Formats: sequence, C-alpha cells, structure tokens
Amino acid sequence: MFVSDFLVIGTGVAGLSFALKAGRSGSVRLLAKRQACDTNTNLAQGGIAAVMGQDDLLEYHVEDTLQSGAGLCSLETVKTVVEAGPRMIAELLSLGVPFTAEVDHPDRPELGREGGHRRRRIIHAKDMTGQAVQRVLGQRAQDDPNVIVHERHLALDLVMAPDAGGGRRAVGVWALDLDEGTVKAFLAKAVILATGGSGKVYLYTTNPDGATGDGLAIGWRAGARVSDLEFVQFHPTCLFHPHVRNFLISEAVRGEGARLIDHDGRSIMEGHPQGDLACRDVVALAIDANMKKSGADNVFLDITHRPAEFVRDRFPKIYDTCLALGLDITREPIPVVPAAHYQCGGLAVDVEGRTSVAGLYALGEVAATGLHGANRLASNSLLEALVMADRAAEAARLEIAGRPAPDPAEPGGWPSGRLGTAPSEAVLITHSWDEIRRFMWNYVGLVRSDQRLRMAAKRLELVKSEIDEFFRNFEVDADLIEVRNIAVVADLIIQCAILRRESRGLHFSLSWPRRDDANFLRRIVLENPTPVHFPAAIGQL
Ligand code: SIN
Repeated sequence: MFVSDFLVIGTGVAGLSFALKAGRSGSVRLLAKRQACDTNTNLAQGGIAAVMGQDDLLEYHVEDTLQSGAGLCSLETVKTVVEAGPRMIAELLSLGVPFTAEVDHPDRPELGREGGHRRRRIIHAKDMTGQAVQRVLGQRAQDDPNVIVHERHLALDLVMAPDAGGGRRAVGVWALDLDEGTVKAFLAKAVILATGGSGKVYLYTTNPDGATGDGLAIGWRAGARVSDLEFVQFHPTCLFHPHVRNFLISEAVRGEGARLIDHDGRSIMEGHPQGDLACRDVVALAIDANMKKSGADNVFLDITHRPAEFVRDRFPKIYDTCLALGLDITREPIPVVPAAHYQCGGLAVDVEGRTSVAGLYALGEVAATGLHGANRLASNSLLEALVMADRAAEAARLEIAGRPAPDPAEPGGWPSGRLGTAPSEAVLITHSWDEIRRFMWNYVGLVRSDQRLRMAAKRLELVKSEIDEFFRNFEVDADLIEVRNIAVVADLIIQCAILRRESRGLHFSLSWPRRDDANFLRRIVLENPTPVHFPAAIGQL
C-alpha cells in the first residue's frame, strides 16, 4: 500500500502539470497505465490555442470558443481558460518547451491557424506539439523528488471512505500492477483523474490504444456526475490507409491552405463561409455526406500547391509518416476520413476541477468543464488541461491542508473480481470489444437517429450482461477491465444522445434535424442511480 498527499491517475499534460504544481506543497504519486509517455497528449499535433498575436484579443478567442460550442459553453469557464492562456504558454517556455519561433523574431512563438479561429493563435512545435510538451513535463516529473511515477498500473476503482459530514469521499484507488499481476492500494488525501478520453469506444479513432475511458467509468461507478457525453468529436482528417488506422493529419495543414477535395478533385467545403477552416462538426459532416453520396471510402486533403520545402519543414512528422507509407504529400493529395477524436463531455467538474464526489478531481479530456459546449474548438484542449491543472493544484492544496492522511489500515482487496493473467475465454472478450466499437461507429457516430440509438442501446445491454458474466466466471485481466470501461462509456454516450432530441454541434440526429433552443439550450447531466461505494475498511477521515 502507498500513501501520499495527492494521487494522480494519468500522465498526459493534465496529470503531469498538476503533479508538478502539487509537488511544491506535498507528496505526489502518479499512475500511468502503460509507459508514462503513452498518452493522447503525446500524439497531439496541432498545438495550444492562446492569444499572443498583435491583431488578436482575448474577447475574440472567447467569442470563437462560444461560437464553436453552439450555445452550450459555460461563459465563466471559457473566460477563465482563455484569459490564463498566455500565462500558461509563458510557463511552458520557461520550462524549456521548444515551441517553433518566428523566423525573424526568435523570441516570439510562431502562430498557426486552425478551424473556427478568426486569428492565428495556435502555439506549436512544428506538428509535434504534444510530444514536445510531454517530454519536458515528463522529464521534470521524473526529476522531482516529490513526485513518484508508477508505470504500467491500471487504475481499477476508487477507494471510498466515510467523511466527517456523513457522506463519502474518495481516498485512493486500487490499481492492477500489469507486470506483477497484483492489485495494490494507493491512498491519498486528494485523488485526481487525468486519464484522457475514450476514442477506443469507436471502430475508427485517432486515439492511442489506451484511450478506453477508464477514468470516466471509475468516476461513474463511484457516483460522480457526468455531462455532455453525446458530444463526441470526429476529427475530419484521419489518414485513410489499410495498415495505419489512427494517424491524424493535423487541422494545422488546412490552416496552411490545404483543401478538402473529393475523388473528382472538387472542393468539399466550397460555399461554406469559413470554407476549409469551418469548425470540425461542420467539416466532418460535410465529408460524411460527400462520401455517402459518392459511395467513396475517403476524401482527400490537398496541400500540393504549397512549396515542398515549406510543407516538409512545417509538417515533418506528417510528411515522414506518409512518405514511409509511399505517399509524398508535397506531390499527391492525402486520403483522409473522419474518425473519433475527442470526448467533449466527461465527469462534470466546477471551475477548479472538483467532481461531485468529495476528494475527487478530474482534469483534461476526462472532465467536462463547460469549455467545449457542443463542439470543442481546435487546440483548446491542451490549453484547458494546463489551466485546469493549475487551478486544481491550488484548490486541492487548500482542501487538504490540515487533513490527516488516510488511515493506512488495510483497505482490503479490490472487491470486484478474481485476478488472472490469461482468461480461459479471452477470445470472447475480444468479440465484445469489437462488437461495441462497431455498433457505436454505425449507430452512434456522426449521424444518429432515434432508431439507431435504440438499436445501439439494445445491443449494448446484451454485451454488458456478457461482460458481467465474464466478471463473475473468469479470472479478470487488463483486457476485461478495459472492455468493461468501454461498455460504461458507450452506455453513457447513448443515454445522453437519446435525451438530446435535437441536432446541435457534434450531435446530429436525422430524427431531430433542427437545433431546438426552446427545449435544449442546456447541458445533459447524468447521475448514477446505483453507485458502488467499494468498502474501505479504513477509518473515518
Ligand atoms: C489537430 O492537430 O488537428 C488536433 C488538434 C486538436 O485536436 O485540437
């Protein structure tokens, strides 16, 4: 058993920045499901939106975010996050993050452009921004004597304990050590979920394999409120290639002039006021409609009109990756399709990152702060993670001051299942996983309808009962735990989508094709009617 002041699950930008800040006032343990650098952050290409340009204003960034969010953003959160942006960039620069600088002003970050932004305001490290941030913050965390990182630990469930007010609070997690195959308890005065998103709920995604919605499922099981889960963002331009399924072609490529064209070379976004730089919900739906009409499997992104040297220098990762697959993007258009990219909803939090469960914070993609509304504006996610980590670190520091450490009396073993390394029926678990991802793609994807959602709900019921049966009868391993989490997230997405009987932002329903402000200018919040408060045989806090 391990006891610390702060316990952080997840080592992307949200978890790392929180850990580094919280580490100034207490001990921190950080859990990574795989390697510490195996995160969605590490794959982020485009950058971090912040108002740094001479021609830009905070008000513009606020307005662009609200516009993209289609009426559902929290104004307080938007202002808070946008206003803190320039300070966050200054902090990262002072830590040594190598952002790309202007050629003539090496002290000024070069500003890129992406969809929905009226000005150039994307701070980037070429097309590997996330990797640059991950490396620097990850190294700092490793060097920090107050921060201990445990790699290959899969968080299972929250440890809860009675608190003085007669309620319950989160005091830690049980985690499966993937190397030893044993479950360990990690206790802390404050628990922070920074586990990222859930792209693996869908058949096609830009996310890494680890994006299985673990934090969302863990929080939900313990009774944390969730919101906005009907808003799944499909990135318009994932590389379409038979062997490489989840490689993103950054929106920054369109920011530098690339055009979306169909198989006949016709522009897909022509006629739209913002053209190829419209918001993602609009562009992804336009591509989907084009593919359905033509029967084609993909469309193309064409940047061949820009000088080859510029393309190679500005997008080295995309250029090299495509070239290794035999595609020279300076000469040929890139085949692309939309794919699940970002979960705009999540565990509902306040503007300091507190969930509805005492002692539990959520940061980054797993959280729903109200910044994104019905559709996240490009490159607002790394920004949100940085700002919310900063605010939560201060809030958690104040919250735990004077609080005794959790009682290290044995919290008992993880009560949910028997562990094993090789379940006898592993193939069944793979089938459940494939089935969920496939019907989520077909029925709960870019275009939904009441009928499709009902069909998805029905199928999910079946798969969920199978998963419960596996839990009762098999030895549990990491795959089964992940598929159980995937099923929880799928369920929450379907429930929220069924409740939103209109079309808005990323939720488009054939049954309710219009936006309905009279009835739905509000966020959908779900509460778990039967939360599982895993017993903590530990004393009252
Ligand atoms: C991209 O580079 O297109 C992704 C950036 C984002 O998701 O905000």
